[in-house]
Amino acid sequence: MEKVKKKVIFSGIQPSGCLTLGNYIGALKNWIKLQDEYNCCFSVVDLHSLTVRQDPKELRRRCMDFLVQYIACGLDPEKNLLFFQSHVSTHAELAWILNCYTYMGELSRMTQFKDKSAKHEDNINSGLFTYPVLMASDILLYQTDLVPVGSDQKQHLEIARDIALRFNHIYGETFTVPEGYIPEVGARIMSLQEPTKKMSKSDDNENAFIALLDSPDVIRRKVKRAVTDSDNEIRFAEGKDGINNLLSIYSSLSGKNMQQTEEHFADKGYGQLKEEVAEVVVESLRPIQEKYKQMMNDKDYVQQIYTASAEKALSISSRTLKKVYKKVGFVPKN
Ligand code: TYM
Repeated sequence: MEKVKKKVIFSGIQPSGCLTLGNYIGALKNWIKLQDEYNCCFSVVDLHSLTVRQDPKELRRRCMDFLVQYIACGLDPEKNLLFFQSHVSTHAELAWILNCYTYMGELSRMTQFKDKSAKHEDNINSGLFTYPVLMASDILLYQTDLVPVGSDQKQHLEIARDIALRFNHIYGETFTVPEGYIPEVGARIMSLQEPTKKMSKSDDNENAFIALLDSPDVIRRKVKRAVTDSDNEIRFAEGKDGINNLLSIYSSLSGKNMQQTEEHFADKGYGQLKEEVAEVVVESLRPIQEKYKQMMNDKDYVQQIYTASAEKALSISSRTLKKVYKKVGFVPKN
């Protein structure tokens, strides 16, 4: 029987702040679900994180921490490529080329750019502006079919598709045009303190997010303090942002769909809802935290993983870069 080639996934997370429940539910959980079906590249996208000032020592520590948490969450290092973006030079190289095929107008419409430049008024650097082009390069280098992300990345994904189509139109088939994979429930987990805002790993208020490594007590306390509303009715409805968020977290982690989740809480109060949400979070994160502790004692193994993965990633992505260099008209090296 003819062997069908597996399709390709690329996704990544910026090592800023700490990994949150939003990252887990919106992205990581799906990476784990899809890892058997696809050839996957999952990167700690460290180049991206420089768009905001970082403390070098802290960044180095965090990058390692993220990679270890990828594995602890259940990504199998034997099946997936798990690497740091800065170890694979093709990402930055393709980004330069694609910058020349991306318009200022389209980049200035990016909401993440608008949000981040408002938040970091003193450092509106050009990396922040061209960030989506680097993200497009990450994706297009591996001829990616599917990009599992939360809904906040939709616009970036759209521009990656536009760049791929534009390049293909000028030079002929070069890049696979990727599709997004966004979960039905949990694509946008909200802040526990301001549930109209997304849960963000760089939120100054620690009570606004749950970190994957938060202890059970901290998780229970944060969920207990989560902002809800005053009508004491547990249902998923417009305007009930705090409750919708807790229901989404419960639904995503318990495996019950939203209707089953609403039925489950039909005759219960907010106190009970919070208790059960906290417990499902604690129990979902427990095995991750245990594995994390184990892996942190085995740094040599982790190093082997990211070194070997980066080597393979370089070899795969170099094929695309070579093709691009040829198409745009550079003189071949050999
Ligand atoms: P980042 O680092 O902000 O987030 C990483 C992933 O987590 C998802 N996510 C969420 N999902 C649900 N609810 C939330 N509150 C929440 N917060 C974050 C994000 O949608 C994302 O999937 N630009 C990207 C990183 C990136 C990338 C890539 C992603 C760089 N290159 C190539 C995919 C493919 C980012 O800043 O994600």
